[in-house]
Amino acid sequence: MPISTTDQGWVLETRTAAYALGLNRAGLLTNRYWGVRLPTLDDYPAAPNPGIWGSFNNPSQLTPEEYPGYEDMKFVEPCLKLSFADGVRNVVLRFSSADVHQAPAPELRIDLRDTAYPLRLSLHYRVHAEHDLIERWVTAVNEGEAPITIERIWSAQWHLPPDGRYRLTHLVGRHMDEAQLRREPLVEGVKVLESRRLSSSHHHSPWFAIDRAPEAGEGPPAGEHWGEVWFGALAWSGNWKLAAEVTDFGSTRVSLGLNDWDFAWRLQPGAAFSTPSSYAGYSAEGFGGAARRLHGFIRAVVLEDGATPRKVFYNSWEATLFDVDVGSQIALAEVAAGLGVELFVLDDGWFHGRVDDRAGLGDWWPDERKFPQGLTPLIERVNALGMDFGLWIEPEMVSPDSELYRAHPDWVIHFPTRARTEGRNQLILNLGRPEVQDYLIDTFDRLLATHRISFVKWDMNRNVSEPGWPDAPGDPRELWVRYVQGLYRVWGTLRACHPHVHWQSCSGGGGRADLGILQLASQIQVSDNTDPTMFLAILEGFTQIFPPNTLHAWVADVPEAHLSLAFRFHVGMCGILGLGGHLLRWTPAERAEAAHWIARYKELRHLIQGGELYWLRKPQAHPCAALIFVAPDRSEAVLFAFRTHLPPRYPLPALRLHGLDPEARYEVEGVAGARSGRAWMQLGLVLALGDFESTVRHIRRV
Ligand code: GLA
Repeated sequence: MPISTTDQGWVLETRTAAYALGLNRAGLLTNRYWGVRLPTLDDYPAAPNPGIWGSFNNPSQLTPEEYPGYEDMKFVEPCLKLSFADGVRNVVLRFSSADVHQAPAPELRIDLRDTAYPLRLSLHYRVHAEHDLIERWVTAVNEGEAPITIERIWSAQWHLPPDGRYRLTHLVGRHMDEAQLRREPLVEGVKVLESRRLSSSHHHSPWFAIDRAPEAGEGPPAGEHWGEVWFGALAWSGNWKLAAEVTDFGSTRVSLGLNDWDFAWRLQPGAAFSTPSSYAGYSAEGFGGAARRLHGFIRAVVLEDGATPRKVFYNSWEATLFDVDVGSQIALAEVAAGLGVELFVLDDGWFHGRVDDRAGLGDWWPDERKFPQGLTPLIERVNALGMDFGLWIEPEMVSPDSELYRAHPDWVIHFPTRARTEGRNQLILNLGRPEVQDYLIDTFDRLLATHRISFVKWDMNRNVSEPGWPDAPGDPRELWVRYVQGLYRVWGTLRACHPHVHWQSCSGGGGRADLGILQLASQIQVSDNTDPTMFLAILEGFTQIFPPNTLHAWVADVPEAHLSLAFRFHVGMCGILGLGGHLLRWTPAERAEAAHWIARYKELRHLIQGGELYWLRKPQAHPCAALIFVAPDRSEAVLFAFRTHLPPRYPLPALRLHGLDPEARYEVEGVAGARSGRAWMQLGLVLALGDFESTVRHIRRV
């Protein structure tokens, strides 16, 4: 039973893990346990009952509450902070009722109520048992007559086992350099990661992984394939905040939710406010096990089309930039089709007045000079060549030099008395405004209804400035949330009206990669950086969260002569294979080789896009990289290995394989003799690779 109720409270059990909570003697809803699943329900500890510590610390400071509100002598990070209409600024939440549903998804709802004010807070726990994940979100309901101003409302606080010392692993980055892994000890105080940029951002990801610090004395810290890891993520594409706190009393907890920076929400009488979901899980199989749990969950639950094979695409951006027209695109499409490409994507530059990045955003009809008969002749030719047609759009933006801006200068996010800071010469439409949402739905609905467009690349190429909303219906600081809600409404409506379209999320590459956007887009453009070795490192970072069938890889033209086409293709084959080079300049030999690798990718695609990923050597830490994708039934696998730069004659270390059935026998392509899975995993595979050489090997059970 995924959710059990006992006299100690509730136990949520997943395939290998468990999470227990209950009321303590003071009536506070507290965390009782989070870790490996135990044999019986009696094994889970009772809710803790901390005492006082001198006259300075009440129990409320010492209790690992599931969802602390700001009250009492509580100085830890609360999840909820608000002001009532009479100026009272604390919130005293106490248990009111609990309700358990086992179907359609097992869910526990616990209602807390303020002891003096008509405020209800529902804590939702949904159990994704097969994926070892717990989903949490909250809903606040104003049951009174006066508005309440919410100043912070997080989705969850996740408590690590008491008395431990831990390390935090997280991702940092920049445009062209996303998803770099960082691992650091958590010490007393609060480590904050956040976005204030209106999108989830290139800079940090709303994700964490925690393992035990070596000095904890509780065994070695976790590795890629072993050890305990607690991890989580937030499904939100706007401003978010993660606070990893170690209290002065040695309690470690991670809070995750909407960013409270510059945030307020006026909760009107009778109104409800729901937070985005935070997901968290536990893996006893190291960081790789944590990632595979998220991959399985994203494929099966978050994505509507998680099992659909992703097509090999060609995107003409790097070849033609803004200089697109029917002729140039048809010429590229013809070569692409000959190589085996399945989806041709026309990027920026196709719409009215878009000669460069100084004009045009907002005027979403084909540029009359570049496409005198519209896009249809190009689409028809692409389809006749056997490919789907995809198109780039950037709906949230407007160029000051556009018909749209001239008609509606007030539609952008701005403060009326301030200059409007431009980023890439563009401003941001206020998607919190219903008329802007309706306009965008209308515009893109028409575009999709009148063209055979199978794929849309949805871009967002700047972050926010002057976050003003003159005449906002509520508190102007609601902008941060209303914008994202508006984005979800526009995109969700278009998706629902055009179910055959596949969507990609791009924000200068991987600037909006999160579990929220994956409910709309089935794919993410990993980076604008198409250098293969850097791309591998970025891929490593993003695969901590996202499965390879959501990650677009590119084979682009690179200036480095030492990077062979094979190396570049092998990198591109580790995600959704895409081409971005100027194909008309590729020699016949290069085209033949490209066709060979595309065919190879199609043979192996079910493993890469649907298999279980194990990193054998991680490129951010090693001058070589290796990864294996194993079929769920372990009947076959595919191994990729890359050597970047090692001292001459330094042999590539043996690659110990992972994920195979130890008892079965396997053959590795290009290596004589079958061996047991156990032998491949124990002894490894020695490959002779020189600098900047790579290989792909199919592995089959015999
Ligand atoms: C962004 C994207 C690129 C490309 C350009 C077009 O930078 O990340 O892939 O689409 O915009 O302007």
